[in-house]
This record gives sequence, structure tokens and C-alpha cells, in this order.
Amino acid sequence: MNNTLITAHNLDVLSTMPSQTADLVLTSPPYFRQREYDHETPHEIGNETTEEEYLNSLLAVFRECFRVVKPTGSIVVNLGDKYLNGSLALMPYKFAIQATDLFGAKLINNITWTKLNPTPRQDKRKLVQSSEPFFLFVKDATQYYFDQDAFMEHLDALKAGNRAKPSNGLGKKYFDLIDESDLQPEEKSNARRELTMVIEEVKTGVIEGFRMKIRGVHAQPFGGQEGGRKIHIERDGFTIIRILGKTMKKDVIESPVEAIKGNPHPAVYPLYVVQQLIKLLTPENALVLDPFCGSGTTCVAAKMLGRRYCGIDISPKYIAYAEERLAAVQERELELFV
Ligand SMILES: C[S@@+](CC[C@H](N)C(=O)[O-])C[C@H]1O[C@@H](n2cnc3c(N)ncnc32)[C@H](O)[C@@H]1O
Repeated sequence: MNNTLITAHNLDVLSTMPSQTADLVLTSPPYFRQREYDHETPHEIGNETTEEEYLNSLLAVFRECFRVVKPTGSIVVNLGDKYLNGSLALMPYKFAIQATDLFGAKLINNITWTKLNPTPRQDKRKLVQSSEPFFLFVKDATQYYFDQDAFMEHLDALKAGNRAKPSNGLGKKYFDLIDESDLQPEEKSNARRELTMVIEEVKTGVIEGFRMKIRGVHAQPFGGQEGGRKIHIERDGFTIIRILGKTMKKDVIESPVEAIKGNPHPAVYPLYVVQQLIKLLTPENALVLDPFCGSGTTCVAAKMLGRRYCGIDISPKYIAYAEERLAAVQERELELFV
């Protein structure tokens, strides 16, 4: 299973895999009646006659993925919607509801991929569809691997790089306010000591900034829970709020639709999005499985990031192309930044 690509119906392979072996299943199944990928592969999923049959096919694959993934692992499924009889079919959401109901999978996030270059449509009575969900399911909500700092970490580095140099007068305003306040002498001395420490943290780049609140000088924090900052201010005479300066890790990821020159596959998902998810959900050397691997984007990202991969696709044409893509990338090659 290590670093392999397999041409087969995914259920035939998944059913032979031992339970609890993969760290992450990251995949994009064919959308309902969207396209026939490869005319040589009549058993491909997506061409079922009814919605129900289609969802059952997807759920049969999901069941196996759920078995094969480790208790610390996760399963990410990217699915697009389509219009049926003039209405969005809500197919991705029907799938997600059944996956949670039937197998007890926990849906941790519905991550929205926003397409920076969506396909224009002529329909004047609908807005252009420019997003797709990536559902993040886990087997056990108490022990799944999740490295939030690794997700989009280049944005943190960018923010740190753009940070203004702290001014020489940093914190002076607060020293003055402490002096003028009616805190007790011991409280004033504690406040000055802690203020000096936090200024040092800003100067050495440990934090981006801070705010200080002093009893009798600043308004009491409104609302929220009783306790925390309110207690600090009442008990110690002051509180300091540290601003860490990391970017907020949101459940939205922007990226263009990829067009790789020479790629015979019509529905490739973005390497950038896949890389970020692999970093979020796996440690190095983890096993990443894609049971609908198409042109091999998941496997390429896994190889670049020093993870192991296993890709399955029913089409020998796509597997051959994925092999070519994989041969062209170096392990631990630089990731993409969008
Ligand atoms: C949306 S594409 C995946 C594209 C891929 N994420 C990429 O970036 O290239 C879905 C793939 O599922 C494959 N497929 C359909 N039914 C399958 C089955 N039963 N077993 C394995 N692969 C299947 C199709 O050949 C197609 O390549």
C-alpha cells in the first residue's frame, strides 16, 4: 500500500485492506451524472440512474474508508452539486447527512473551496457557482490528528514578516496610567513588572502586541463569562491581553481551478488545497489514501510533503498519467503558495 497506484474498482481494493491503516482518506468522487470520465470503464461511479443509487455507491465506498482509517485519522470528501429539474440537488449535503447518520462519522468542518476562476455560465437567472464543499469527517472526535499551525502556515509567516517594528515608546502610555492609577503600591509594582515582560515579548517577536486594562482606569469588560479577565482586574488590579498575531484559521480556502497542460483528466482538484489539508490532518510519513485518485493530485501532494500515498482509479489512462506526474515530483518538493 505504500506509494502505490492501483488500477481497479476501488471497492475491490478497499475490501482487501486491513482495518485502521490509513491516516487520511482525501478524495473527490465523480459528481452525479456530470461526465463520463473514461469510456473504457463502464463500472465507474457517477453514472447511476437515480440519485439514490448514486448515493448508495458513494456510501459503500465511504463505509470501507471509514473502516480502513485509523482512530486518529480523518476522511475528507470533496463533492460538487448539480441542477436537477431547475433546482440544486444538494447532493453533497445528502451524502454528508447519510455518512454521519449511517456510520457515526463526525463532521468536523465543512470547508468551502472558493474558486478564483469559476467557469462562466450563460444562464442569466442564476449566479455563477464558484464554491464546493470539502467535508472533513473523523472517526473519533476525541483523538483525531489536527495540526492547525501547519494549515496555511505561510500566511502566519507573511503576517510576521509584515509586522511593524515596535516603537521605542512601546508601553509608555501604560506605565503612565499605572502611576496615575489608585492601585496599591504592590499592585503597581506587579503591573510594571508584567508590563516590562510583555514589552519584551513583543520586541523579541513572541507576540504581535498586547492591551492592558487597569482597575479604575479602563471600563470593566462587558458581557461574556463572569470570571477570567474580570477576576484578574478585581484581584490583581490589572490584566494583560496578549495578541498572538497568527492568522485566523478559517474554514474557507481560495484557489483557482487548475488546468495542467497535457492532463487528460477533466476534473482535477487544486494541489494547493490538497496540500493544506494534508498538512492539517497528518504528520510526516503518514499514509494518505485516495480511492478516486484520477490524475493523482492527492498522491502528488502527499509525496511532496513527505507522506506515503496509495491511489486507486478505475481508469488505466488516468493511473498512467498519475504515474507520470508522480515520477516528475521530488519528495519534499516545495509546496505551492496561492
Ligand atoms: C473527480 S475525479 C478525481 C480527480 C482527482 N481528484 C484529480 O485531481 O485528478 C473522479 C475519479 O473517480 C474515478 N472512478 C469512478 N468510479 C470509480 C471506481 N468505482 N473506482 C475507482 N475509481 C473510480 C474516475 O475514473 C475519476 O478519475
